[in-house]
Amino acid sequence: MKSLAALLLTASALLAQAPQARIKIDTDRTVGEVHPYVFGNFAEHLGRCIYGGIYEEGSPLSDKDGYRKDVMEATRQLGVTLLRWPGGNFASGYNWKDGIGPKNQRPARPDHAWGDIDSNRFGTDEFLQYCEKLNITPYICINAGYGTVNEAREWVEYTNEARSTYWADQRRKNGHDKPYNVKIWGLGNEIDGPWQLGHKNAEDYSKFALEAAKAMRRVDDSIKLIASGSSNFGPNSDWIGWNRTVLQNLRSEIDYISLHTYIGNRDNNFENFLAVSQDVDQRIEVVDGLIKAAQAGQRNPRPIYIAYDEWNVWYRARGGSEFATGATRLEERYNYEDALAMGMFLNSFIRHAGVVKMANLAQLVNVIAPIFTNKQGLFLQPIFFPIAEYAKQRNNMAIDALVTSPTYKPQGRQALGYLDVSVTHNKGENALYVNVLNRSQKTDITTRIETVEGTLNPSFAVWELNYPDLKATHDFGNDKKVQPKTSTVTAMLERNGFSYTFPKASLTILKLKLQ
Ligand code: AHR
Repeated sequence: MKSLAALLLTASALLAQAPQARIKIDTDRTVGEVHPYVFGNFAEHLGRCIYGGIYEEGSPLSDKDGYRKDVMEATRQLGVTLLRWPGGNFASGYNWKDGIGPKNQRPARPDHAWGDIDSNRFGTDEFLQYCEKLNITPYICINAGYGTVNEAREWVEYTNEARSTYWADQRRKNGHDKPYNVKIWGLGNEIDGPWQLGHKNAEDYSKFALEAAKAMRRVDDSIKLIASGSSNFGPNSDWIGWNRTVLQNLRSEIDYISLHTYIGNRDNNFENFLAVSQDVDQRIEVVDGLIKAAQAGQRNPRPIYIAYDEWNVWYRARGGSEFATGATRLEERYNYEDALAMGMFLNSFIRHAGVVKMANLAQLVNVIAPIFTNKQGLFLQPIFFPIAEYAKQRNNMAIDALVTSPTYKPQGRQALGYLDVSVTHNKGENALYVNVLNRSQKTDITTRIETVEGTLNPSFAVWELNYPDLKATHDFGNDKKVQPKTSTVTAMLERNGFSYTFPKASLTILKLKLQ
């Protein structure tokens, strides 16, 4: 007979293992395809993103055209599908005509967005050839600040016109006979922000964007257009009003509306920091509602999606005078908790895969970026790894999983679950990807995972990012601290489900096979 102490021990062991959370998956509950463009990225003429990042003429690390080969390889590993260029704020003062033709005849121009001088040695052809080399989709953002409708139209003529016209012939003269066929065009950047060159109100912006869309489509009516949504979420800003007006006015011309979000752990509170998913979810859902409102009552409304075309953690390399001076060059050093925030953002995009059809990490190299270079090489920041792993889920079908988990109540917010989850289904592989962020700083969470459809294979692959120091960063020669671990686990199946314990402050992707 067991002693009382032994009985209590067994009971507490059982209790410790009893699931506290549940993820129930039904593959029929689809949300939408995880579009490949959700793994887009962004390269702006700012600090060392282009010059000294993507492009370094004369460097032994560059190819014959001046592109850094090590950066290209890292970009491939990151799974980048699409690249937005030339900005950002830079776009609103940029004249694309300065950046074409013989390089030694291109004018150096002051960049009034970031207080720099641009040599213009990297321009439209250099950008589009970079995308060709990497086999990624180019996305050009026009100048809707200081620029004109006609300059935008001529830009499309330069890149996409097949016939012999003035600008198409300039492209030929510059070495590219065939049209580049750039499909994705942004109708300006953050035009609602008072910091933006050529900032406008929503009505004035709509008039400009409508005319630009018309003119650009007269050159190529197959292009897809992204309206500048609001990025100004300050307490006194009317971001909902901006989006409502822009959607109402542009609904028959645009294919996407943009959203931008940067976050930061300013009060050094890990669990509060990762509760920002509430804002990301809310912004998406509000804009989705505004899209539906703009389409309501329309015959055959044009489909409009969200392009979350700037997102990241950005708060350290940032100063009050940033927009005028670019003082910090935005060379943010990322740590382990920022890497977890990547999972939080991507989970939200996946949960809303029906409407979020593009998302661009801001940015690719050096400037708030996962890749960090110097003249001798590069290192990968901790945020690199989750993005590269999630990118493998492109084209999967997002699933609306039922999730219950212990909750917490961050200051000034509604209560939310410690587990932040998204699920995708790859029909071809007959596999489920279960993406789980455990944002509890103290508690591992044992979770029952079960599926309604199919029979689970008890053996599955685990990808886990888990590091004891939330503030751990990488550097040149010291970039192996925050690394994902992979393993194969065999679970005890019970009624087509099993228990799995997600460690505190970790990000896990389970790849479950159905048989
Ligand atoms: O990505 C850095 C800057 O952040 C971009 O230029 C601008 O669009 C945003 O405010």
